[in-house]
Amino acid sequence: MRLKEQINSADEQKSLKNGSGGSKRCFRGRENNIEDDNCSKDGASDIKSSKVLPKAKPNISEEASSSAKTMEASESLTGMRNDLSLTGQAPNSSNVRNRRPRSESKYKPEEWILPDKESDTLSQLNLAIVGHVDSGKSTLSGRLLHLLGRISQKQMHKYEKEAKLKGKGSFAYAWALDESAEERERGITMTVAVAYFDTKKHRVVLLDSPGHKDFVPNMIAGATQADAAILVLDACAGAFEAGFDNLKGQTREHARVLRGFGVEQVVVAVNKMDTVGYSKDRFDSIKQQVGTFLHSCRFRDSSLIWIPLSSMENQNLVTAPSDSRLSSWYRGPCLLDAIDSLKSPARDFTKPLLMPICDIVRTSKQGQVSAIGKLEAGAVRTGSKILVMPSGDVGTVRSLERDSRACSIARAGDNVAMTLQGIDASQVIAGGVLCHLDFPVLVATRLELTVLVLEGATPILIGSQLEFHVHHAKEAAIVVRIESLLDPKTGEATKMSPRCLTAKQSAILEVSLQGPVCVETFSESRALGRVFLRSLGRTVAMGKVTRVIQH
Ligand code: GTP
Ligand code: MG
Repeated sequence: MRLKEQINSADEQKSLKNGSGGSKRCFRGRENNIEDDNCSKDGASDIKSSKVLPKAKPNISEEASSSAKTMEASESLTGMRNDLSLTGQAPNSSNVRNRRPRSESKYKPEEWILPDKESDTLSQLNLAIVGHVDSGKSTLSGRLLHLLGRISQKQMHKYEKEAKLKGKGSFAYAWALDESAEERERGITMTVAVAYFDTKKHRVVLLDSPGHKDFVPNMIAGATQADAAILVLDACAGAFEAGFDNLKGQTREHARVLRGFGVEQVVVAVNKMDTVGYSKDRFDSIKQQVGTFLHSCRFRDSSLIWIPLSSMENQNLVTAPSDSRLSSWYRGPCLLDAIDSLKSPARDFTKPLLMPICDIVRTSKQGQVSAIGKLEAGAVRTGSKILVMPSGDVGTVRSLERDSRACSIARAGDNVAMTLQGIDASQVIAGGVLCHLDFPVLVATRLELTVLVLEGATPILIGSQLEFHVHHAKEAAIVVRIESLLDPKTGEATKMSPRCLTAKQSAILEVSLQGPVCVETFSESRALGRVFLRSLGRTVAMGKVTRVIQH
């Protein structure tokens, strides 16, 4: 059963102290409490930190001695926003009060809110890296960052030495992203690591997600923020097949989650091509199988870029391949050029501010707290007053940090750490939403959803208990009504009040949530109206909020 667990600030303070380089945090969030999650069994639920970045200095041996520095750095937020976690702290009913009515008047954005095209030459691109466990996501990310000069030669040497010492030599690049001792020990990513680099067109925020099935909720946290994604496949004989397996693999679930969150553009990186001698036949076979599947998830062929590469042997990452076994037949772009060719999506600058809170960092200063997340609409600047939902408290933006650098304005699409002051820090929670004072987000416990039940899912009945996900919030849910089955093509009702829903069926249903969540209908805000239902460690349905019944 899922419990409502408040973030234990004493624990947080302790883990801040134990962290290294000011970038490490360890929250004990609700992952512990997911009924179907194995995480708690092995302690895997500690949600950490990250990452890369010039400023982070992850070094296990330095951890104990760096506590003072860490606190200092934490307060200045350096490196703070470099990780994501679906921490779980969904709004608790005790947090809900003072809901302001929405302003009847139409929102008119002030002039400063609209971006200055002259000075903003690079567009922001939030890029999630997803794929089955061990396909090489972190290695690919680390290698890319190293090639682009985001990880120094010296730092890289250090990772290599330490990884070798621990008998994990092949994980040296992954260590740049897998920063916690447990991740390194187990050789898996557990939370989303965030890093930054630029291409000619984009300021890229890289979200390296976990592939292990126990951490799908954390992967979802990354996917909710993604504008585009790299889906990493392991070309190795047997490994691709395991990852693509309908029941045991994560490739399909990750792709569905991406599509469910509206990600359209995907670079499919067929990694570890060195293990198959850069075989064109292997690449073509993988492309054919995954292509058919992605097509069935409604990804358009024109939005997919297929790239054979080897992170380990540095083939096709930032330059054309040098190995003739690959260059003899591959004529397409290298990974970096493919990323550069992605389109930055249109942003909702002209709507009122909406920022779902992905994570929070409490500092020792009273009345101050930092909220981390992606602005889905509108803009903020330092000094702005903002509404914290679901509590209804009002705070003032003391400082903003984007890409680990201080800035004075953040706009839709930006991934920021926002320090608020003049506020009761306990009211700012992951899963909550920061809003414009006059335009609060809705807070609800009963919703009408239009969903598609995924292939392989167990039937959904009236009374089924599910885990409900919307942006960074998660609540226990019960299906209270199944209104109608829908024709998946036309969307028209084909049967009223069915008793149960089975795989591949579309339906309108009503859920009652154990606690209130900040939510909008999908037509109002895509980011706050997209939902997932999970059960027994699997995503069973996805869809949208079509009506907020009770709030
Ligand atoms: P999770 O985050 O736990 O899902 O794993 P991951 O996808 O991040 O994989 P990771 O980068 O941790 O790499 C897993 C293993 O694959 C490591 O031993 C890497 O050295 C190896 N690996 C990664 N890329 C390549 C490659 O291009 N070729 C070969 N031969 N091995 C690779
Ligand atoms: Mg990884």
